[in-house]
Amino acid sequence: MRVCVTGAAGQIGYALLPHICSGRTFGPSTKIILHLLDIPRAQQALMGVKMELEDCGFDLLEEVVVTSDANVAFTGIDACIMLGAFPRGPGMERKDLLAKNCNIFKEQGRLLNEVASKNVKVVVVGNPANTNALVAQQCAPSIPKENFTALTRLDHNRAQSQIAMRLKVPSSAVENCTIWGNHSSTQYPDVSNSVVATAQGKQKVGDVIQNPGYLHGEFIKVVQQRGAAIINARKLSSAMSAAKAISDHMHDWVVGSNGKTVSMAVPSDGSYGIEKGLIYSFPVVCSAGKYTIVQNLKVDQFSRKMMDETMNELKQERDTALAFLNKDADTIARS
Ligand code: NAI
Repeated sequence: MRVCVTGAAGQIGYALLPHICSGRTFGPSTKIILHLLDIPRAQQALMGVKMELEDCGFDLLEEVVVTSDANVAFTGIDACIMLGAFPRGPGMERKDLLAKNCNIFKEQGRLLNEVASKNVKVVVVGNPANTNALVAQQCAPSIPKENFTALTRLDHNRAQSQIAMRLKVPSSAVENCTIWGNHSSTQYPDVSNSVVATAQGKQKVGDVIQNPGYLHGEFIKVVQQRGAAIINARKLSSAMSAAKAISDHMHDWVVGSNGKTVSMAVPSDGSYGIEKGLIYSFPVVCSAGKYTIVQNLKVDQFSRKMMDETMNELKQERDTALAFLNKDADTIARS
């Protein structure tokens, strides 16, 4: 499998590569050819990463291509993990950030369209991840639209762990958490359909934590603000947990989620009244290399409001991005 990581010289790249090369991401018997892309001034650091990969002696790793040329990086790839993005600087407006990233993802989408495998699976991590994924997708018309996704698995894992820590159970005892919407502070972490394995069998999280004030208040805030809390503490954004989440996202998509519901930001097909075409985080199950949006979950009034709020933010981001691309929203919804 040819796997490209963009922005590979950065901190998530450093934490992610061991997952990929040890078989945790794409399965224990999948041989890997890595294509590592970063900007020209990061090439020396990237060479250092390559040397370390060699020193690790991973059995699955067949070859490492290091380049600053996206054309080379994307040629023949089966998976693309897009970490590289323009970072938000002090005083920079969200609109300016979108504009900078539109240029990057427009060009990278165009190149994916030209030289990547037509089945390439793409996950965008670089922020604003959902809208960057939409831009790349729109510039890659020969690749199936559903192959473009964005990462909300980190938020999903955070939500699951918060509930698990509160109930003093392992994280894996908590199932069916959902992140709805944007990977931003408007995301809606929702446990109204979650269950937890207890000594008495599986129970609804809402029945075990009989505290709607917490589940509708503090819990949501903690998950929404977790990224900022980590930046405050570490003076750097999440990298170890982001890498684990990327590995989980790709693993479940490619290998299967084993019946588990997980969260992925994927092109909306109109499910749950979410505008078609937006890259919106839904509950999904994955098998045989495909994800399916879980249907018929109960959506109460509170959830509806939260789901619409994050959708409206994504619509605004999309409209700003489309203005840069000279496209309109109807074209996306129809395509
Ligand atoms: P970092 O700053 O350590 O690394 C980013 C790398 O991307 C740098 O090496 C930089 O040279 C490279 N880069 C920039 N523009 C590029 C381009 N046009 N082509 C190729 N490479 C390019 O950042 P870090 O911590 O690795 O994070 C990467 C991104 O992931 C950031 O945008 C961050 O906000 C985002 N993020 C998203 C999360 C999510 O859950 N969706 C979670 C954590 C971070």
